[in-house]
Amino acid sequence: MSVTERYKEAWEGFWEDAPEGPGGVFWDAEPALTAGLHLALFEPELTAAGLPLVDLGCGNGTQTRFLADRCRRVVGLDLSGAALDRARRSDPAEQADYRQVDATNAAQVNALHAELGDANVYVRGVLHQSEAVDRQALVDAVATLVGERGSGFVVELSERARPILHDLATSPAGPPPKLQPVFAHGIAPAEVSDAALRGYVTEAGLAVLASGELPLITTEFTSDGTRIELPSLWLVVGRTPRQTTGSG
Ligand SMILES: C[S@@+](CC[C@H](N)C(=O)[O-])C[C@H]1O[C@@H](n2cnc3c(N)ncnc32)[C@H](O)[C@@H]1O
Repeated sequence: MSVTERYKEAWEGFWEDAPEGPGGVFWDAEPALTAGLHLALFEPELTAAGLPLVDLGCGNGTQTRFLADRCRRVVGLDLSGAALDRARRSDPAEQADYRQVDATNAAQVNALHAELGDANVYVRGVLHQSEAVDRQALVDAVATLVGERGSGFVVELSERARPILHDLATSPAGPPPKLQPVFAHGIAPAEVSDAALRGYVTEAGLAVLASGELPLITTEFTSDGTRIELPSLWLVVGRTPRQTTGSG
């Protein structure tokens, strides 16, 4: 399968219109507050096998470049050519490779796995904005890319994000400025229920090796200057039991 044209065009339009530069996009928070925290939770798997790392749904590559500073080989993968153009422009040193891949397309994902071999996979905030019908295929892609030896780190808005998003979207003053283009391009964030996320993992033939909750840090602030943080759920997934104890 593949995503619909409408969905792909929504992301292309979003990235074509998005402002350049760090923090211009709602979720484009500093890596020290995002991937940096995630790396600590994913460390045992990341360092164990010396595998390449795939950032699935890398967007403009802010987190990808941070990961590339710390991992031997990193590949940023995204559906949107406009997102990847930005990621490449922001990475003149070519720290990472970037590939245009629809992660719901099994043939494209299999081809990447054939090229890279087993990989570790980082997924931040991709499933909750995808169409519900695509979510299993996205987690299947994680399973394909990790193969037998890799592991995945998946972090998604939890179901507790729903009322907060609802309040932001329906605020009398209108949604916060950086959330408006997300709604305008028809890629409104929904939440994946925590049980559904775990169900996709099981259905894909993977096990949850560790899990926990963390705020998903955004680049927006409420009128009283508080940074908007959305509850999120993180999972380390793979085929073999964890050797060390997780914190979740
Ligand atoms: C909310 S953004 C998150 C970007 C990045 N992970 C981050 O944390 O900054 C979701 C990204 O996933 C990409 N995406 C959505 N569906 C995808 C698919 N089927 N295959 C590959 N990328 C996809 C979008 O183009 C978008 O760049």
